[in-house]
Amino acid sequence: MTRTILVTGGCGFIGSAVVRALLADPAIAVVNLDALTYAANPLTAAALERLPRYRFERGDIGDGALVRRLLTQHRPDAIVHLAAESHVDRSIDDAAAFLRTNITGTAVLLEAAAAYWQEPANAVRDRFRFVHVSTDEVYGSLGPSGRSAEDAAHAPNSPYAASKAAADHLVRAWHRTYGLPTVTSNGSNTYGPYQFPEKLIPLTIVRALRGETLPVYGRGENVRDWLHVDDHAAALVQLLQRGRPGERYNVGGGNERRNIDVVNTVCAMLDELAPDIGGPHARRITFVADRPGHDLRYSVDTGKIRGELGWQPRVPFERGLRDKIAWYLANRLWWEPVAACTAGERLGLARAP
Ligand SMILES: NC(=O)c1ccc[n+]([C@@H]2O[C@H](COP(=O)([O-])OP(=O)(O)OC[C@H]3O[C@@H](n4cnc5c(N)ncnc54)[C@H](O)[C@@H]3O)[C@@H](O)[C@H]2O)c1
Repeated sequence: MTRTILVTGGCGFIGSAVVRALLADPAIAVVNLDALTYAANPLTAAALERLPRYRFERGDIGDGALVRRLLTQHRPDAIVHLAAESHVDRSIDDAAAFLRTNITGTAVLLEAAAAYWQEPANAVRDRFRFVHVSTDEVYGSLGPSGRSAEDAAHAPNSPYAASKAAADHLVRAWHRTYGLPTVTSNGSNTYGPYQFPEKLIPLTIVRALRGETLPVYGRGENVRDWLHVDDHAAALVQLLQRGRPGERYNVGGGNERRNIDVVNTVCAMLDELAPDIGGPHARRITFVADRPGHDLRYSVDTGKIRGELGWQPRVPFERGLRDKIAWYLANRLWWEPVAACTAGERLGLARAP
């Protein structure tokens, strides 16, 4: 029997990896609801079209009539909700789209999912899951030590993180109030192929390949825990299959690195894989004004998902990074048409205090 999973945001970076991971199972069909915002690369969307048991629906998660129609038509066994505005700097410039998609859109989706799940004769009622894909940024900034466990208070500092935290609260409420079987993941900074080149690692790769300066915010001291996209997708598939309803699970790669160290490592790898005759790529590193409200460090305690589900990250950071660089070198056609965004005006500073 084929199980149908409704994925939202499946044309994005992590969503497309989730679609590919799900469809590796011949017993799963995927319906992908994606609005194709600027963050969805048309080539990613086109590549997904070639997969078996895949169906694409272009639309907005905030369109309740559309979401209800998809649920009635496809009768999914689960929803994996990744659709979001995801770039912190853009949220600082203008939060409106983040509030609309990440909060209101999630509420619309939850409401439609609850009504569907509550249908008296719904054959998938007992196995239905709503997997909400959130971020470690909801926990806010940590000092040099310590980790956020799942029961840590939400303390978001950017409009993006606040919008994701609000969505987490909505998901919790729809579980507690209506019984909707939700599972929330709080994943750490993710890297890998198919990532829109405005985020730190692909931005550095793309700008280095074009011989541009390599901007590092502040002094590059901010620490992130890097998680390979395939490990992130595998965790979400496991949460879908075996996560306990009403629970949240941290997902982290166990690779804490300062931004400046990540950028230096990318440069060193590029020196081997794509040498610049003018000298080491690192000579182009430029420290620029810090992001307003820039969180110093995120780190999540992943004992729960490891203990309950046996999930653990498999891709060592340096190997994943090298593979990612090789992918960007081999797939210029994927990023060149959208990379204009990395050359323009600096995002996230216009309203700095
Ligand atoms: N990238 C990370 O490091 C990271 C880490 C932890 C959690 N997350 C979360 O994972 C999810 C996916 O992140 P990503 O990096 O793949 O994002 P992304 O920006 O690459 O992709 C987002 C996708 O959502 C779609 N989308 C946006 N608004 C929509 C709407 N209103 N209706 C339908 N589709 C819409 C876009 O077209 C795009 O395909 C997000 O919820 C994000 O908060 C990301």
